[in-house]
Amino acid sequence: MLFLWLASIAYLLHVGGFALAFGEDSTEKAAFPDPLNEEEFNSQMRSGLHIVEFFSPHCSHCKALAPTWKKAWETFYEEGQGLNITFSQVNCLLSGDLCNKEKIAYFPNIRLYGPSGFIKNFPENAKRTVENLIDFARREAYDPVNAEVLDIKSLSIPIRGDQFNELLAGKGEQPILVSFWPSKTMRSSDDNIDFENCDECIPFQRTWRILSSKLLAHNISTGHINCESSSNLCEELGFSDLVKIKNHSLDRLPRVALILPNRVVNNFFVYKSPFSTSTADYEDFATRIVSNSEPPFISAKEVREITEREFEIPSTNGLNVSPQKLHVVFSYDPETVVPEDLHVLGHLLEPLSAIPNAYLYRSTDNMNSASRSVFESMYQMINYNESEPVKTVKESFLDLNVMEQNPSLYVFKDGEKIPHIFPAYSTTEMRNVGYITSWIESVSLPPINEISPSTFERLLSFNPEVYSGLVIQLIDTSTGSKFEKSSRLLRKLIVGAYDYEDLRMQNVLNVADAKRLTKTKKMQALKKKGASAKKIVKASIEEIPRLDVHKIILGYIDISKSDNALSQLGLDYREEYNLGDVIVIDILNRYVYEHDIFGNALSSESPYNVRETLAAVFLPESSYSAGNIPRRVWNPSFGDVFRFFDFTGQVSFWRFFCILSLILLAYKALRLLSRARINKRYKAKRNIVGLLGKADKKNLRD
Ligand SMILES: *[C@@H]1O[C@H](CO)[C@@H](O)[C@H](O)[C@H]1NC(C)=O
Ligand SMILES: *[C@@H]1O[C@H](CO)[C@@H](O)[C@H](O)[C@H]1NC(C)=O
Ligand SMILES: *[C@@H]1O[C@H](CO)[C@@H](O)[C@H](O)[C@H]1NC(C)=O
Ligand SMILES: *[C@@H]1O[C@H](CO)[C@@H](O)[C@H](O)[C@H]1NC(C)=O
Repeated sequence: MLFLWLASIAYLLHVGGFALAFGEDSTEKAAFPDPLNEEEFNSQMRSGLHIVEFFSPHCSHCKALAPTWKKAWETFYEEGQGLNITFSQVNCLLSGDLCNKEKIAYFPNIRLYGPSGFIKNFPENAKRTVENLIDFARREAYDPVNAEVLDIKSLSIPIRGDQFNELLAGKGEQPILVSFWPSKTMRSSDDNIDFENCDECIPFQRTWRILSSKLLAHNISTGHINCESSSNLCEELGFSDLVKIKNHSLDRLPRVALILPNRVVNNFFVYKSPFSTSTADYEDFATRIVSNSEPPFISAKEVREITEREFEIPSTNGLNVSPQKLHVVFSYDPETVVPEDLHVLGHLLEPLSAIPNAYLYRSTDNMNSASRSVFESMYQMINYNESEPVKTVKESFLDLNVMEQNPSLYVFKDGEKIPHIFPAYSTTEMRNVGYITSWIESVSLPPINEISPSTFERLLSFNPEVYSGLVIQLIDTSTGSKFEKSSRLLRKLIVGAYDYEDLRMQNVLNVADAKRLTKTKKMQALKKKGASAKKIVKASIEEIPRLDVHKIILGYIDISKSDNALSQLGLDYREEYNLGDVIVIDILNRYVYEHDIFGNALSSESPYNVRETLAAVFLPESSYSAGNIPRRVWNPSFGDVFRFFDFTGQVSFWRFFCILSLILLAYKALRLLSRARINKRYKAKRNIVGLLGKADKKNLRD
C-alpha cells in the first residue's frame, strides 16, 4: 500500500515538474545504454576504443557482473568520453550471429576493441571489479598502439620444419623472430583460424602483424610455425601443448623465439617472460639480443653521459620516454685479452635476454676511473648542506670491489650515479657465466621503479638479504603543474637516497673493520697462547665476508592513475594520501613508516629528513637521531576492497534516490514488457541453443 502511495506521489511529482528541478542533471547525464546490436556494434567499433562485455542473460556469472559493469560504466562514462573509450555490451542471446562471428566461446567475455577490431581480452587473472575494469580502460586508452588502424598485412612467412633446421644451422640471412601456433594450416598469420583452447591466439595475431612490420626497421624478419603440422619440431622445443590439447581446462599460448644468423651455437633464444600481447615486449626481446650479439663499444665519456641522464616520469601516453637501461660493460685491454676471455660474451646472450632493458657493451677505456667519476657526481649531489662536513668518495669502499685486473665487468644504469663493479678475484670468476649472471641479476633493478600490483611483490622479494627497504614516493601526473612537482620531488628523493647510501657504505666499512679487528685480536690471542702454526694460519686466511646490506629500492606510485592504487597494495593506512608523501617499507621486519624523525608526515621536500629517517629505520647503529619514529605493522595481505563501498552521509539524497528508482523501475517494467514481446518474436525465428551451451568456463576467476 505504502509502495503504491509512494509510487503515485513519485509519478505525480515526475509529471508535475519535479523532474524539472533535476532537469539539467537528467539531460546531461547519459543513461546506461542498451546492449549493442550487430549493426550498432559494427558502426561503433569503427572509431575509438571499446571495452565490450559479451554476455548471455542466462549465465550466472554475467548476472553477478551486471551491477559491477553498470557501476563501472557510470563512474567512468565522462572520463571515457575524454579518452575515446567506452564500456559497451553485446547480448549474445539477441545477437547470436555477431557473437559467432567474433568467436565468443564463453560468457561473460570482456574484450578490448579498436578501429581494427578485437585487440585483447580483459586479463584473465584480474578480478572483475569496478576499479579493475576502469584501470584496464585507462591503461588501454593511453596505449597508442591500440588506436592504430591496421591497413598493413602481416609480413610473417610460414616456416616448415626443414626450413627451421636450416635457420638453426646458421643459414639464415637475417635474425628472425619465429612464433609457434596451435594450428595446422595457417599460411598467413592473419588467416582467420578457429584456434582451439587458445583465447590469446587471435589477439596475438594482431600483435604479430604489427611486430612483423616494426621489426623490419631493425632488419629482423618474422616467421610462424604451425605446430600441429610440424609436430616433431614443436615437441622437441618443449611446446607439445601446441601440438595437441593436453588439458582442456588449460589455455594454450603461442610461443616466440629468436634465431641469429651466421652462427651455430648460442643462436636460439626462447622468449621466456610471461606471455604478453604487447608488441613492445617482443621488440625489446628481439632487438636486444641482436644488439648484444655484436656488443657495441662504449667509451668512458659515454658512460658518464648515461649516468648523468635525469630520470623522467613516463608520461601517461607512454611516449617519448626511453626505458631506464642497464648497461653491462665488458672492459678489457686489447693487448692482453685472450679469445677465452671474450667467449663469455656469447654465453651471456641467453641470460641477458631475460633481464629487461639489459644491453651489453665492450670497452677498452679505463672503467675504474669512469666509475670513480660517476661516484664523484653522486657526492656533488649530497653535499647540499653547508652545516655538515663535506662528504667525499669512499675510497676504501671502491677498493673493496675494484680489483686491478683485466678483463672486468661493470653495470651502469641510466641516470644512476652509483657504479656497480663485478667482484671478481681472478679470471676464473670472469669466465663463470652462472656467477656473472647472478651478479648482474642482483644489480639489475632500475634506479626508480613504478610500483603496481604486478611489480610490488617482485620488488619486495628482490634479494631481501641485500635490499632491506622499499621507499615509495607518491606522485600525481594528472596536470602539468602536478607533473612538474612530482618530477622535482622524485629528484629530491633520489638525493636523500644517495645521502643515505653514503651512510650505508660507511656502515658496511665499519662492520668490515670491526670484523677485521676481531680477527687480528683472535690471532694475537692464539700466538700468545702458543697455538700451533696450523691453527694460526687457519685463522689468518679466514675470509671476512663483505656484507653489502641494507640497500633500499626506490619506487613511485602515481595516485592519479588509479583510485585505489594504495589499497590494492594494502598500504592505505590513512584517510588521504597526497602528492609528495613518502612511504617506507621495512621489508625484513614488516613495518611501514609514514613519518620522519620529527614525527611529521614524511616528505621528500627535505632530502636531509629522508636520509635521517632511512638511517634511523635501517641503520639504527649509525643514526644520529635516536628518535622513535611511529610505525605500523605491515600486513602484506591485500587491502579490503569493500571499504571503498562504505558510503556515509548524504542522507537527504536518499529520498530522492528512492523516488528516482521507483520511476526508473516503472520505466524498466514497461521496457521489459515490450522487450519480452520482441524477444518472443525473435526466438521464434532462430535457434540459439548452440550458443548457450557454454557458460563461463572460467568461473575460477572470481
Ligand atoms: C577522439 O576521437 C576523435 C575522432 O576520432 C578525435 O578527433 C579526438 O582527437 C580523439 N580524442 C582523443 C583524446 O584521443
Ligand atoms: C639494415 O640493412 C641494410 C642493408 O643491409 C642496412 O643498410 C641498414 O643500415 C640496416 N639497418 C639497421 C637498423 O641495422
Ligand atoms: C588441467 O588444468 C587445470 C587448471 O590448471 C588443473 O587444475 C588440472 O589439474 C589439470 N589437469 C591435468 C590432468 O593436468
Ligand atoms: C643540515 O644539517 C643540519 C644538521 O646538521 C640540519 O639541522 C639541517 O636541517 C640541514 N639543512 C638542510 C637544508 O637539509
